Amino acid sequence: MRWPAEAIWEQVAPLLPGFTVEVLPQVDSTNTELMRRARAGRLEPVLLVAERQSAGRGRLGRQWHGSDAALTFSLGLPLAPADWSGLSLAVGATVAEALHPAIRLKWPNDLWVDGRKLAGILIETAAPPQAGGAGRYTIVGIGINLATPAGEAFSTPPLGLRELLPEADPGAVLLSLAAPLVRSLQAFEQFGFGPFRARFSARDALSDRPVRLSDGTEGTAHGVDEHGALLVHTAAGMTTVASAEVSVRPAGSPLP
Ligand code: BTN
Repeated sequence: MRWPAEAIWEQVAPLLPGFTVEVLPQVDSTNTELMRRARAGRLEPVLLVAERQSAGRGRLGRQWHGSDAALTFSLGLPLAPADWSGLSLAVGATVAEALHPAIRLKWPNDLWVDGRKLAGILIETAAPPQAGGAGRYTIVGIGINLATPAGEAFSTPPLGLRELLPEADPGAVLLSLAAPLVRSLQAFEQFGFGPFRARFSARDALSDRPVRLSDGTEGTAHGVDEHGALLVHTAAGMTTVASAEVSVRPAGSPLP
């Protein structure tokens, strides 16, 4: 597999001094690898791509089951936003916009097309870049199915990008995402979620749909607030769901 590492570097290095691109044939998980490096004091900006992950991770401690043909990578960089809330929504909006108009965002960090899951985002942070510094080393992990995965291991039916873009090639997809992602992360660092709210809302998969939370609460989703918290109208009135530990599903589909 040939990766356009140099072209990516040329687009991103002017935005992010010290940036490198690294492709590994195999690793347990690109997020885990960048977390190990961060713990060892390696806090430089890097795009780490894995051709295969043996232990890909999803949100809430779940496994990430991608297709054999999946694009899996993590972008690691120091970030110091005043408010972290809504970061995964900003990343999701950026990825969806770069890929295809049909892609919707399922709060807080999945990319869906017609109720099928195309991609997932796992954001983790590690130690401050400098002892006592304000920021944290931020690892933005993204897994995008290119082919539609087969099998039963999915709580949401999966979809591959090639159903929308038959020629989609992992290198070209990565090249289309890298610089927009870095620009969005830097805009988020400066301005927070505010500028991304309308972009998220334009693709909100749950908007005005009945939903069920993992604690059993049912209601109707009404978009997100200025911090990216999900607004759900329940029997008790309008509630905000901010916790990343909560799962939200369209009512009628099984909770994972
Ligand atoms: C989810 O669906 O809950 C998030 C999935 C995130 C998967 C990506 S693949 C690259 C990076 N490395 C991982 O182990 N996970 C993320």
